Amino acid sequence: MCGIVGYIGDNKACPFLVTGLQRLEYRGYDSAGVATLQQSNGIRLTKVSGRVAELESAIDDRIGQGSLGIGHTRWATHGAANQVNAHPHSGGAGILSLAHNGVIENYESLKLELQNNGYQFVSETDSEVVAHLIADCLKEAAGDEIAPQDCVEAVQAAIARLRGTYGLVIIFRDFDDLLIAARCGSPLVIGVGKNEQFVASDTSPLVGFTDKIVYLADHQLALIRKDNIQVLHRDEGRVRPDIQTLSSETVDVNLEGYPHYMLKEIYEQPQSITNALRGRIDYDNATAKFGGLNLTTQQLRSVKRILLTGCGTSWHSALVGEYLMEELARIPVEVEYASELRYRNPPTDHETIVFGITQSGETADTLAALREMKRKGHHTLAICNVIGSSIAQEADGGVYLHAGPEVGVASTKAFTSQLTVLSMLALYFGRLHHLSFEAGSRIISEMEKLPELVEQTLGCHEQVREIATRYQESDNFLYLGRRFNFPTALEGALKLKEISYIHAEGYPAAEMKHGPIALVDENTPSVFIVPQGTVYEKVLSNLQEVKARGGPVIALTDHVDPQVTKLADDVIQIPQTQDFLQPIIASIPLQLLSYEIALLRGCDVDKPRNLAKSVTVE
Ligand code: G6P
Repeated sequence: MCGIVGYIGDNKACPFLVTGLQRLEYRGYDSAGVATLQQSNGIRLTKVSGRVAELESAIDDRIGQGSLGIGHTRWATHGAANQVNAHPHSGGAGILSLAHNGVIENYESLKLELQNNGYQFVSETDSEVVAHLIADCLKEAAGDEIAPQDCVEAVQAAIARLRGTYGLVIIFRDFDDLLIAARCGSPLVIGVGKNEQFVASDTSPLVGFTDKIVYLADHQLALIRKDNIQVLHRDEGRVRPDIQTLSSETVDVNLEGYPHYMLKEIYEQPQSITNALRGRIDYDNATAKFGGLNLTTQQLRSVKRILLTGCGTSWHSALVGEYLMEELARIPVEVEYASELRYRNPPTDHETIVFGITQSGETADTLAALREMKRKGHHTLAICNVIGSSIAQEADGGVYLHAGPEVGVASTKAFTSQLTVLSMLALYFGRLHHLSFEAGSRIISEMEKLPELVEQTLGCHEQVREIATRYQESDNFLYLGRRFNFPTALEGALKLKEISYIHAEGYPAAEMKHGPIALVDENTPSVFIVPQGTVYEKVLSNLQEVKARGGPVIALTDHVDPQVTKLADDVIQIPQTQDFLQPIIASIPLQLLSYEIALLRGCDVDKPRNLAKSVTVE
């Protein structure tokens, strides 16, 4: 994982490096560091164990003077999250400095070889191996007098020996007009400026610095000078950089008065759902329309099976998607964790299409699973938020969420936007098959009410805050729901775990009897999602079973009947909607509940421990 940045140009490097790292902290925040070069003083380095804010205070004048520099914010894989393991790492007694994002799988054998050649390692990281390996190749390539071309050749020789994934930015002590970036499996984008160039793991650091960008592809290496960029591909040699314009959706994000991004993003949901719906309703045909599926209507009609894959919250969206597609479109659906799918070999036919669901578009497992399915000849589609992300580029087509940047590590608005898009896809496929015009129209009018219903649901915040106060000390929570709301229960439990570090389990309400009910006692609250519908009475019986064992119950329902009020300790009323849209509404109080409990427990809501927003390692 990790975020990396680089700068070369007429200005000082640090303002961009620090701003860029702050914007990339969603990729990891265990430690941070920068290295800058001033020819007379060589490479200056500073690193901290902790956040970019601490790094900023540690940057002194000597480092601040450099006009060439690299930076890194880390999510630890190899080696503890301490200062020594923080990047950048030096190679060959300081001849170069690099920052790395990714995992080098053969680092141990390389390290042994380099140690035998006399290289001293100070850290436990796989990345330091790359630094010394490049230095070693440089020694071989150059002899006494080093030229910039030797540096390029040394990097090429070194990366040819790496197994695994890397995004690299490298500076060399002897060249103040040379920054090298190389990519294999970890994203990198170059920002093109006037007499200055920027490098970053994604486009967010570039906002406000430049709107001209070049995405680096796998096996490409960029030789970056302040006034030009050369891109070299491992197999194809020199390639023309494809300069694109940065999407206006990648806006600079700030808190706009909210105390946390998570809260801001929860409150943005009426708007983000509106954005997901915008332009996608075809009233004349009572269906949805999508511009980027890249399949003809005939091809889409012949789809016999759908495979949905993703990780974390996106996997929960996939589970809702399964219910949606089967219910509305009558198409068999399978849901797989991307991390499992990539190594499974499921029998699939050529009429199966694969959707990868991902907020960031960078999750390594989802990317690898889609690649594998693409390799097998399946049409792959991305349901993705980040425009131009690796998965968006790699898939054969897809649907953007247009939710705007999601910064809080715990996903909120991306989840409800994913569900909105999946509902529209289910409507679309349903209308290709058995759904009547009238049924399609009814679904559309329900979907159009969603932003207003979400707005109303946010009105429960005060009540949820009060409930949170009473349950903040609990060590265990159960989340229970059925049918469409089984995945909602999973997502509610995940939100609580992620940001408040409370053990929480989501279960299909009826399945609780087969194990989790043993956890029920007066200190274990159960959150029931119990809206009206075909299983309303059944879930009420499950609720009684918990109550009978003395467990506190928080019920989310759209129908406050005396039975629920009598049984539940707290009843949160949510607006009514069609059953297949309930997860969108019901997840709002669950997001707020986890937020409020985390706050009360003094947790860092936007940057929970051990997590990162975008998991770019296996
Ligand atoms: C990380 C995040 C989760 C997210 C998951 C999948 O684990 O902490 O919030 O759901 O990755 O991310 P994606 O960007 O692929 O949706």
